[in-house]
Amino acid sequence: MTTWPDTRLLDLLQIEHPIIQAPMAGSATPALAAAASNAGALGSLGCAMMDTGAVRGAVGELRDRSNRAFNLNFFCHAPPGHDPARDARAAELLAPFYRELGLGEMPAALATNFPFGEEMLELLLELRPQVASFHFGLPDEALVRPLKDAGVVILSSATTPGEARRLEAMGVDAIIAQGFEAGGHRGHFAAPYESTWIGTLALVPQVVDAVRVPVIAAGGIADGRGIAAALAAASGEDTAMTRAFSGRPARGIRNRYLDAMAPHEETLPDFPLMNTLAGPLRKACAARGSGDFIALWAGQAVGLNRTLPAAELVETLVAETRARLAAVAG
Ligand SMILES: Cc1cc2nc3c(=O)[nH]c(=O)nc-3n(C[C@H](O)[C@H](O)[C@H](O)COP(=O)(O)O)c2cc1C
Repeated sequence: MTTWPDTRLLDLLQIEHPIIQAPMAGSATPALAAAASNAGALGSLGCAMMDTGAVRGAVGELRDRSNRAFNLNFFCHAPPGHDPARDARAAELLAPFYRELGLGEMPAALATNFPFGEEMLELLLELRPQVASFHFGLPDEALVRPLKDAGVVILSSATTPGEARRLEAMGVDAIIAQGFEAGGHRGHFAAPYESTWIGTLALVPQVVDAVRVPVIAAGGIADGRGIAAALAAASGEDTAMTRAFSGRPARGIRNRYLDAMAPHEETLPDFPLMNTLAGPLRKACAARGSGDFIALWAGQAVGLNRTLPAAELVETLVAETRARLAAVAG
């Protein structure tokens, strides 16, 4: 039953409902992506911290569980600039936490994430996901063109109408308008960070007006009311933006580490160097069941979250949205 007001995205992504499970590097599993896809949404795998072997394995697992369309997501940041003074300052700030948790020597600040490159492109051309999405802009044309030629649908996030126009000119098939409420890393790539603090409700209609390709709303949408509001545009726990985990601004639930590092935001090493320094603190806390030093990525709608299996959540969102749209129409 297709009763959605606009079916462009459904046709483009080969999905039943206009809902995309967020790619969450380090958190989302092939089982989650398969469950979301099987429920009629678009399941996504956050591949930003995987090498080609890990991506191949995860896609195999996903395909064992689902034969529906899915999305592979990658980061495409520029390599970080190295500043030994910043590295040393961050090491100084983190040293008391390392001592408290009984961790050994702090690792050197090295890049941990894999920006999308030639080797990953070759793998994608072999695996042929229906959709590839990118965060922090788009890779070079030479890396995107072969994917488009192979029929892979390309998505990327914009945080301003200007970024959306740039992505459209670069050839993306649809644009994710990522409002300031969104959990995890900001996807900005062209606009200065401070000019990207636009809420979803304000951003989505401006992006829709700025481009011709379909627009996907992201940030603060957690139930049928939010989905209906986003379609019509076509406070939860205390979250905050922080650079202290990875080096790039990302939104997460406030905890001890985020608060302790807040005054030092401007002095920290570039993305993703900070990951290497904060990584052992995160791992040690996870092993102890403490949230003090963990990156609790979450958006401003975190208070609306429901603990449900993915298939049940997709069903609930669809039912809520349809009821809300019918109420508005009636
Ligand atoms: C735990 C977590 C991890 C995320 N990781 C990624 C990622 O790897 N790639 C990406 O493009 N977006 C990532 N995001 C951002 C989401 O794609 C999306 O923009 C955001 O979750 C939407 O806002 P909401 O959290 O209010 O629903 C992440 C978000 C969260 C909460």
